Amino acid sequence: MATEDTTQQANPSEEEDAIGRIPTPPFRTPKGVHDILPHDHDFHTYIKKIVRHRCRQAGFKRISTPTFEFTEVFKRSVGEATDIVSKEMYTFEDKKGRSLTLKPEGTASICRSYIQHGMQDWPQPVELFYIEPHYRYERPQAGRYRQFWQFGFEVLGEADAALDAQAILLPYRIYEDLGIVDTLKLQINNIGDLDSRTQYAEALRDYYYGKERYLSDEDKIRLEKNPLRILDSKHEDTMILNQSAPRFSEFISQESKDYHDEVLEYLTDLGIEYTLNENLVRGLDYYSQTVFEFWDQKKGAQNSVGGGGRYDGLMELLGGPPTPGIGFAMGIERVIAQMKRNKVRVPSKDNLHVFVAQLGREAKKVCLPLMDELRERGVKTMGALGKGAIRNQLTIADRFKVPFCVLIGLTEVREGTAIIRDMTVGTQKTVKMEKVVDEVIKRIGIKNLDYYNPKEPANE
Ligand code: HAM
Repeated sequence: MATEDTTQQANPSEEEDAIGRIPTPPFRTPKGVHDILPHDHDFHTYIKKIVRHRCRQAGFKRISTPTFEFTEVFKRSVGEATDIVSKEMYTFEDKKGRSLTLKPEGTASICRSYIQHGMQDWPQPVELFYIEPHYRYERPQAGRYRQFWQFGFEVLGEADAALDAQAILLPYRIYEDLGIVDTLKLQINNIGDLDSRTQYAEALRDYYYGKERYLSDEDKIRLEKNPLRILDSKHEDTMILNQSAPRFSEFISQESKDYHDEVLEYLTDLGIEYTLNENLVRGLDYYSQTVFEFWDQKKGAQNSVGGGGRYDGLMELLGGPPTPGIGFAMGIERVIAQMKRNKVRVPSKDNLHVFVAQLGREAKKVCLPLMDELRERGVKTMGALGKGAIRNQLTIADRFKVPFCVLIGLTEVREGTAIIRDMTVGTQKTVKMEKVVDEVIKRIGIKNLDYYNPKEPANE
């Protein structure tokens, strides 16, 4: 997991230290973005496998949308007054002056795709999932990045409280598989339909008008554009005011209340605990009815590990046919941090079986086909094909923590043999070249070989 880096300045004048490293490298990643190094890729791979498995079990198909879209797609759906659209989008013009934006979230693009590809003619509901990077120009801090990965899904074309419960059950099971469900708390709310929200927004405006001096600048803007967002404010004076603000429960329709009760009943039947949170409004304008988030039990709203909700009016905002939808997305970096805090260990398939060390050009000629055959038969093999002395090559093998080495020097080439060295106990044995692969496989054990047949149905 990358930690936030505040020293991003390039300093090309730095000199190398004694072992050739540059203390302050001339180029670093821009603020808020990070490399995913191999160790964290083990986490990414593990999460992807679980996510794909759970989605496949529930009939979801994978979709990828482009990294950028016309800016209008996000403006119309996420909402002009939201933080995402008003402050956090990476927007640029292409050479013909068209405004494009790196996608800050996935739902808008998927709805655009549903309309564009006539998915209303597919069997409904259309269930899609995605695993992709997203971009928001936020103030970087722990768990908040400018490029971050999300796993998300959308269920389009049907509205029913049971689908809302299923949209909560799926991430719940995924968090369970990931070993972090006990560290999370499900927050849930129903924000009603557009009519009741409009009435509520009016009541909130009436309440805050005359009290503007207690509001932060940001909250004053929210008061004009979307007063519901004031309830989400982290500004201390606003939070005090919020305690006596009109409650949404006074404005919500009976229909929405019944819908909410039905969702909660399904959750109870499924054994999923929840916290009712009337202040949960979410940071995107397209929601209606059910909204939910999974919070870290200790850090609360500051660390939402995933969130989603219903968005029955969104498709029409994008010019499509009336089509209900519900979906969810989780931040993969936040999930990884949560797994690490919870000491969840993930398997790695990267460990090597064999290191092939050689001496000289003649030996290399024998090494290359040998390494090829080892790999073909499922042995993870690395070779020192550079010019180092055998002793140095063995030191490298040690650092890679390989259990076995195959050594080929000039004598072995001449005699048609190779030495197999057990790196754990330090013993070695000379074997005929044609027996080397079988001998290595015998020692590693057939069940540990790494085979991959692209034609077999992938089970990950
Ligand atoms: P969101 O709440 O904006 O919802 O993002 C979902 C999750 O992405 C968050 O709970 C968090 O874990 C992660 N996340 C968001 N911003 C960042 C960031 N800057 N750095 C790291 N992680 C972040 C959506 O995006 C909706 N599209 C979810 C949805 C799908 N609703 C319906 N369908």
